[in-house]
Amino acid sequence: MKEEQASSTAFTVVQGILYTARRSDLRGLVDDEMVKACHKILAASQEGQRRLRQLNSFWFRGIARVLERLTLPGITVHYVLRKKFIEDYVLESVAKGATQVINLGAGFDTLAYRLSQENPEVNFIEIDHPATHKVKVEALSGPDTPKDNLHFIPVDFAKQKLEDVLRESSAFDKDRSTVCIVEGVLMYLDISDVSHLFQALKELIHAPVRCVFTAVEPMSEHPKSFGPLLKLYLGMKGEPMNWTCLCRDMPAFVEKQGYVLGMVADADEFKRRYLSSDYKGFLHRGEYGVTVERL
Ligand SMILES: C[S@@+](CC[C@H](N)C(=O)[O-])C[C@H]1O[C@@H](n2cnc3c(N)ncnc32)[C@H](O)[C@@H]1O
Repeated sequence: MKEEQASSTAFTVVQGILYTARRSDLRGLVDDEMVKACHKILAASQEGQRRLRQLNSFWFRGIARVLERLTLPGITVHYVLRKKFIEDYVLESVAKGATQVINLGAGFDTLAYRLSQENPEVNFIEIDHPATHKVKVEALSGPDTPKDNLHFIPVDFAKQKLEDVLRESSAFDKDRSTVCIVEGVLMYLDISDVSHLFQALKELIHAPVRCVFTAVEPMSEHPKSFGPLLKLYLGMKGEPMNWTCLCRDMPAFVEKQGYVLGMVADADEFKRRYLSSDYKGFLHRGEYGVTVERL
């Protein structure tokens, strides 16, 4: 990603959620609290305000539909579905005893902000690149943001080791049962950095560790889900795709990292869980959700 600029794709994810929230055929898919939190984050920066203005433009909504088809068809609905899957898993993990949630490459995700208000006993940590982190911290600096159990830590994974930063941080508690989120991030890393991340989490946390993450399948597997302009778009944004993993290879990958596979949820599973059975929109099939644990 570009050194001094907040992640463009982090802005795009929030904008995609608000775009989906306004779709009349998907009413109720994005709840009001999520909409409010997304607005709050975007309203705090110039780029965010630009994205909000775009959402109100009739022309932009038309162009956005075409752009989506040319880059990642179905991606805006997919953003919402993957976030619902992750939130359900985090809530289930908290119900099973997790008392720490760490979101790696959190971007402008609103889950920790929302859940930290309702779960004061759970310690929430968000980690992101310093440029993206700065925008988010400014956006959530108001009095309604929990101060004791919601922590933001800036880390550039290209320059710093996750374990060094967490070990030095007073926000991190190695003895808490922890659920880690890595959403829409691993595809930007090299395979060695992906493996390193899973190893580091295992070694750092001296209590049960659960992870929920998303992975991308090679583009050739789903030609309809990856449009002709995608590579150009990601190259321009400075976030090219590096790591991909076939759904069917995921069990072996997880075992190699020393974790136990929970579930692999593809587009059909997301639809079964969160969309009505007569939903006719295009389902993005390039990315899927995975849960793993080391108890
Ligand atoms: C596509 S966004 C996903 C954001 C969020 N997880 C979501 O799904 O809504 C990718 C995130 O990875 C972060 N990221 C990219 N490169 C990074 C790096 N070198 N160090 C730390 N974070 C990085 C970006 O700042 C951005 O927030």
